[in-house]
Formats: sequence, structure tokens, C-alpha cells
Amino acid sequence: MPGLSIVGTGRFLPGRPYTNSDLARVLDTNDEWIRQRTGIAQRHYCPRGQGPADLALPAAKAALESANLAPSDIDYILFNTMTPDHVFPGSGTVLGANLGCIGVPALDLRAQCAAMLYSFQLADSLILSGAAKRILIVGAEAHSAMMPWRDWDVLEGTSDRKPSAQDFERATKHRGWAVVFGDGAGAVIVERSDKPGAGIVGVDLHSDGTHVEELCLPAGFKMRGAAGEIGAEEWLIRMQGREVFKQAVVKLPRSVELVCEKSGVPASEVDWFIAHQANRRINDSVCERLGLDPARMPCNIDRYGNTSGATIPILMDEMWRDGRLRPGQLICLVALGAGFHWGSVLVRI
Ligand code: COA
Repeated sequence: MPGLSIVGTGRFLPGRPYTNSDLARVLDTNDEWIRQRTGIAQRHYCPRGQGPADLALPAAKAALESANLAPSDIDYILFNTMTPDHVFPGSGTVLGANLGCIGVPALDLRAQCAAMLYSFQLADSLILSGAAKRILIVGAEAHSAMMPWRDWDVLEGTSDRKPSAQDFERATKHRGWAVVFGDGAGAVIVERSDKPGAGIVGVDLHSDGTHVEELCLPAGFKMRGAAGEIGAEEWLIRMQGREVFKQAVVKLPRSVELVCEKSGVPASEVDWFIAHQANRRINDSVCERLGLDPARMPCNIDRYGNTSGATIPILMDEMWRDGRLRPGQLICLVALGAGFHWGSVLVRI
């Protein structure tokens, strides 16, 4: 039975990083709080006028180059994003056009921070069914469009004026989530492999929409007359941080236990647990509950913050390029995101 193998990866982080102290110019926060509560030291933001498809382009090109492939070698695009360039069409078709993959099927996945898990399951099925041979999986996010401040010049340090009291207060009201998210893109190319055991070894995926209100961006087509009525507040995330945290530290370790049980693979045989990076304390807690050495769950949240659907492919690219991730290894992707969508996927790469 065919499976899949990773043949190339890429990432792109736009512009210079913004530190926690940079953020303290536009809302009431400080470096100590952000580092202690989340593990984040800096994050990147998408430049004005660009979107996730723009960030995905250099990441996809880097992945093609690392795999020694041309755009014409790709026969399917899966695009993970919760901050698409447009409400429609999806960002995958925009990326396809910019990359020169015209006519190739492109599908956006709406599973937020867990999208990469769904993408791997889908890619494996597409390959198994013969529908695709070589798939470009991209995760890209431009959260900066929904940040609760207007004072980008102050944040960027190009102006030393102070934000108005009203703007500072509004941004501070949303500081719990606003300091957490960053922008970026990651890309992974997978292709059909006939090596015995290659590809998906086990899947434990779930979604539970009873938690929508705990983490969502309300803007959408639920409102009749939306075109005239949607205001700026609907474009701000709603996040009950503590509730999401509590759910993550229970659901994620349970899912890892389940996927290992279902697959008959002990956790000790997994080379890497590649986890979404929402909060350093969540991942530390998952390791503790599973009795795992945290060194087996790599962390890069300090440099990028939470980049939602881009997080796992960015981390995979870092690990692929520095040689930690190698063909033949068994990896476990683990994530929870808005919806909730959560779970874990075991893949022999
Ligand atoms: N800077 C300074 N203080 C802040 C702050 C910030 N950026 N954000 C919140 N605070 C303050 C609050 O106002 C509150 O103050 P009070 O005690 O005086 O009322 C205090 O810190 C605690 O706030 P709380 O929101 O309870 O903090 P927390 O410890 O739960 O941390 C998160 C907030 C968001 C970092 C944390 O809940 C989290 O990571 N949750 C999971 C989120 C997640 O995974 N989301 C994405 C899924 S993909």
C-alpha cells in the first residue's frame, strides 16, 4: 500500500521581529508577563497590503527548492489558514496562481491551529486513492489585520508620538490574545512513497463546535445585512484564554495516548512530538502528563508566537533544515485550535 514521505520544506517570516517591549508602546503589557505566561519573546507581522498567500509564496518556493522540484511537479495544494486573504476565494488558488501552478486543485482547510493534522490525513488519502502524487501543504497566517491597535507607526518605532488614551485602552482590553499571535508561513511537500510503513500510522482527530464561543472571530455571513452592519468589533478575536488552556492540557495528552494505543505504537518509539505552539506552558504540561522529556517536543514559540495554521510547518522546516527531522522517522503531530479542532497524527516520514 502506498504512503507518503516528506521531500522538502520551507518557511517565511516577514520583516523584522517585534519584541514584547515594542508591544508595550501600544497597549498595557510588559516583557516579564508575556514571557512568564506564554514563553513568547517576539513575533513577526505581515506587511500592510499583503496577506497569507503572499507569505506562503516564498515558503513554497523554498520548499520546492529544497526538494529540487519545479511548480509543475505539484499536483495538489492544501492551504491551511484561519486568516485568508479574502472571505472567498480561498488562499490556495491565489498561491497556485502566483507560484505558477495554474489548473492544479487547491483546497483551503479551516481547522485553525489543528489544520496541519487534517492536511496530513487528507494528503495521505489523496495519495492512497491515486488522486495526487505530490502535494504542497502550506500553512500561512496574517493575524496582524485583526490586531486591536491602529498605531502601527508607534509599534514599529517610526513615530515617537503616544497612542490616544482611547486607542491604548481599546488595545489593552484585548491584550490577553493580542500579544500571543504572530504571522508567518511554512510549507511541506509530500509525495507518494512505496517504502513499507511510510505515511500515516495512526490518527486521532476530533472537532467539537460547542466550544465556538470560547475562541472565534465573529465576522461572517451569519448576520443578514452584514455588508452594512459588521463593524470593527466583529473583526477582533474572542478568546476565553483560561478555558482554552484548561481544555488543551486535558485533550492533547489524552489524544496522544489514544493515537498510540490505536496504532499499537508506544510513545517511546516516537522520534518527535511536533506540537502546535499556543503557549509554552501548555506544551510543558502535555509533556508532564505524558511523562515525556520536553526535549522530544521542540519549542520555537519564543521567536514567532502563535502562528496558528503556520506553526507546525514552520517548526517542521526548522527541524528539517537543521537535520533533526529525517526521512524514516516517526513523528506525532499534536494540536488544538478554534472550533475546537484537536488531536494527534502519527506519521512515518
Ligand atoms: N500583559 C499584562 N497583563 C495581562 C496580559 C498582558 N498581555 N494579558 C492579561 N493580563 C492580565 C489580566 O488582565 C489579568 O489581570 P488581573 O488578574 O489583574 O485581572 C491577569 O493578567 C491574568 O489574566 P488571564 O487572562 O487569566 O491570564 P492567563 O494566565 O490565563 O494567560 C493566556 C492568558 C491567553 C496567555 C492563556 O490563558 C493561554 O495561553 N490560553 C490558551 C490560549 C490558546 O491556546 N489559544 C489559541 C489556541 S490556538
